[in-house]
Amino acid sequence: MYKLAVFGNPIEHSLSPDIHAQFAQQTGVKVNYQKILAPVDGFEKTAQQFIADGANGFNITVPFKLTAFNFATKLTLNAKTAKAVNTIKVENNQIIGENTDGIGLVNDLIKNLGIELKDKVILVLGAGGAAQGILLPLLKQNPKRVMIANRTANKAQQLQADFSEYGPTCGFGLNKIKHDPVDIIINATSASLDGKMPDIANGCARGAICYDLMYGKQTAFMQWAEANQAAMIVDGLGMLVEQAACSFEFWTNKKPNTQAVIKNLRR
Ligand code: ATR
Repeated sequence: MYKLAVFGNPIEHSLSPDIHAQFAQQTGVKVNYQKILAPVDGFEKTAQQFIADGANGFNITVPFKLTAFNFATKLTLNAKTAKAVNTIKVENNQIIGENTDGIGLVNDLIKNLGIELKDKVILVLGAGGAAQGILLPLLKQNPKRVMIANRTANKAQQLQADFSEYGPTCGFGLNKIKHDPVDIIINATSASLDGKMPDIANGCARGAICYDLMYGKQTAFMQWAEANQAAMIVDGLGMLVEQAACSFEFWTNKKPNTQAVIKNLRR
């Protein structure tokens, strides 16, 4: 029996226990996956207790991904470049920190949506934690360029400096986005949480694949994409399931069937 959980605050809304229960059923792995509400200033203590109780690993969501990064005793390259941890595996007295968010996005784009990233021009909106988590996996797919545009331009420039060793990147303010269409636009800002759309040139959406990392409803970004002739508009539900699948495999070495789970959740 794998003892697993997701830590967050709030955590009530989390779909992760449901997703992992479906993975467990498919693969025949025995899993006990709980939701754990940690106090905002008490992640370490709660996590230490869970480990002392025999945990094999856990997921980490808002607002603890950075605390989990510092809590881990060993980090994967994904976690190091993301500077955030969403998955921990407890093994041989090590607390191994991984970040599966970006791989989840890439797997959703490539496997589920059939979108090639090689030689594509990708525009990432935002330069916060969510953007930082997806850049390395995107760059590993050999796109023509990843353009990082952020309301606060210097944060985008900083990410460009941090990630240029992994592939062609550029960073600038939202106001520098041109009307020229791009292949893929990824909304990694938190604007959708406030029902807002980043203030950008409309022309970049024409014919583009527009992907919002948020899920659950038609976001302002998705409405904007529709109004500006995007070719495809996608929310982040597939990414949610794919990042969970990577975590599940990281813990159990078993690869679940994600498409069946995405279909169930959409229903
Ligand atoms: P997360 O972990 O979700 O990425 P974050 O690290 O706080 O959260 O980053 C939020 C990102 O959304 C930032 O890039 C922020 O832009 P700034 O760096 O200029 O603050 C962006 N963001 C939030 N609301 C926005 C809005 N209304 N328009 C444009 N960008 C917005």
